[in-house]
Amino acid sequence: MEKNVLFPQVGGFLHGGDYNPDQWLDRPDILEEDLRLMKKAGVNCVTLGVFSWVMYEPEEGRFNFDWLAGIMDRLYAEGIYTILATPSAAHPAWLDAAYPSAVRAGRDGRRCRHGGRVNTCWSSPEFREKVKIVDRKLAERFGSHPGLLLWHIANELGGECFCPLCARRFREYLARRFEGDIGKLNRAWWTTFWGHCYSDFSQVEPPYSDGESSIPGLLVEWKRFTTWNIVDFVKTEIAVFKERTPQIPVTMNFMSFSEKLDYRAAAKELSLVSWDSYPAFHNDRETLYDTMAETAFYHAVIRSLKPEKPYLLMECTPSVVHGMSYNKQKRPGVHRLACLQAVACGSDSVLYFQWRKNRGGCEQHHGAVVDHLGTADTRIFREVSQVGETLSRLSRAAGTVTCARTAMLVDWDNRWALNEGHLAGKETKEYVRTCMTIWKEFFRHGVEMNVVSSEADLSGYRIAVAPMMYMLRPGTAANLKRFVENGGQLLATYMTGYVDEHQLCYLGGFPGDGLSQLFGVISEELDTLYPSDRNRIRFEDGTEWEVFDYAEVLRVGTAEVQGVYAEDYYKGGAAVTCNPFGKGKAWYAAARVAPEEMWTLFEKMLGECGIPARRLPQGVEYHQRLGEEGTYDFYLNWTTEPRAVETGPGRELLTGRSAGEGAWELEPYGAAVVLRETPRGGAPDPRIATDANGWKQE
Ligand code: GAL
Repeated sequence: MEKNVLFPQVGGFLHGGDYNPDQWLDRPDILEEDLRLMKKAGVNCVTLGVFSWVMYEPEEGRFNFDWLAGIMDRLYAEGIYTILATPSAAHPAWLDAAYPSAVRAGRDGRRCRHGGRVNTCWSSPEFREKVKIVDRKLAERFGSHPGLLLWHIANELGGECFCPLCARRFREYLARRFEGDIGKLNRAWWTTFWGHCYSDFSQVEPPYSDGESSIPGLLVEWKRFTTWNIVDFVKTEIAVFKERTPQIPVTMNFMSFSEKLDYRAAAKELSLVSWDSYPAFHNDRETLYDTMAETAFYHAVIRSLKPEKPYLLMECTPSVVHGMSYNKQKRPGVHRLACLQAVACGSDSVLYFQWRKNRGGCEQHHGAVVDHLGTADTRIFREVSQVGETLSRLSRAAGTVTCARTAMLVDWDNRWALNEGHLAGKETKEYVRTCMTIWKEFFRHGVEMNVVSSEADLSGYRIAVAPMMYMLRPGTAANLKRFVENGGQLLATYMTGYVDEHQLCYLGGFPGDGLSQLFGVISEELDTLYPSDRNRIRFEDGTEWEVFDYAEVLRVGTAEVQGVYAEDYYKGGAAVTCNPFGKGKAWYAAARVAPEEMWTLFEKMLGECGIPARRLPQGVEYHQRLGEEGTYDFYLNWTTEPRAVETGPGRELLTGRSAGEGAWELEPYGAAVVLRETPRGGAPDPRIATDANGWKQE
């Protein structure tokens, strides 16, 4: 597997994070101390300028980058590289005062006041122009700086604006989408119902809080428009760098699996992707393993945006978060483990928010590598330094990638459609949680699963799981058929294929768009259960699964019935079916059950595809990264007990010892990374050999 080293000049993983030295320009002693401490902690990269606009341009048209140049030079002289952010996430006060259009309007249409951050109207031409000017200056001044690694666009973008200009752009967007034909829009949105027909695009309004919120097609289109408008804004920033510094890559920092922006649309514009991770460590509702399984899911969401290369963990806290209901400290050892998880999942960095705690301001109590105490002699600093050492031990693995042969199909439009749709249970739809818990079953057994669009090229995958794929995108049905015909195993669930991209219900049976032939079933009724209602699915071998929340009543066509309902008026009716189709199989699970119960089915699918599952001790997470030199197996113990794992032969990189004879003991919160080298010039490692289809076999 070819390596894809993101930053050859660094020669390993990035370690460091957001540095906000603008606050300390009158304290050269602190800035000097920062450099000393960064070296001590093994920091090789910082992010500068995320919120520095007003420092660059204290008043309109008067620029000052000298302070930044001095800091970047000093850092570089010490071997520390810079990720340079564009400052558009923090509007200067003078800018909002001079150009009120820069600030977004809320759902009630009222313009917000200056304040906070990312309070932007994406359409504002004045704001776009001002951003372009400052970006150009940055590119000109720093584009050829040898310490510059990467451009970082703004910060965690997302959010809707309801100003008159955005409303106008929405109408223009709709006119393009419906080819200038208002009749097309009316048909797509089924506006004759409730007499909501429009006679002109100028009459269409965004979904204001006191306006139109009863047309499902409009609601989902507004979300798509918002993504389109944000990406359009981002493109204007990127264009500046593409033109002036084509050699420098560009990224944005995403937030786990945010509903606010379709990351796939944004990722297309970026050279590499990154995200900010803030799990609720040690909370009182779940085990740490469960919390981190959720974090691993988010890692997979981000990794899958560009699975062919590593991504970056752009932010995490070295200790606590702030401003949550509870801001609990990570227990000793957990920080290192969480950083190793990021690397295991495919990140080539561990970057923090932030390097030094601010004295005042909003986030003064958020964790930082250097505390208000100001010394290296703290638990947090020592743990961060340990991460620095750990990353340098693993540096060979930078540029390697994970390889998943199973995929979960998840679409942002589908999430929006389900959230907005008036069906099923308001409280129980829980699309993301449903995806996550199914994904977690594969994770629990060490099976890597990417999270991709229903229209993605699935040829590299053998198993695809599509939970609650209520809305089908235009290419989805054909894609799924192709996948199964070519030998793929597909599993869909209740609430599949009810509506098209405009939220129009399919006629002639769900799942629509021809998918009822693929699955060999038609879903005739959806039963939404009250929280205490239960049913069961019974299989021939006597196994039973408990049903809750949702049960569909199926009409069976060509599918083989695997399991039937045990109760209620649909007792004896099909609940789990399998339809052989082409060289593959299309499975349908018509009711919601706990994913742990479904493991027997997943295991069967995996077995038929020759994908091995692992028996991992409880609380242990496993991943593999692959490179030309061999495979790196990561084992992470999220419990406070020791755990033994069978690693197979290789060299354990954290200790330098050889592994393989007998079980490897992981300490509480301990980890092992075992490199199994590909014999030089010899036969490739059998675990990464590929079969005739180019799939890796173990
Ligand atoms: C992130 C954000 C950072 C900082 C951090 C800690 O979401 O990007 O700028 O605010 O949270 O709260």
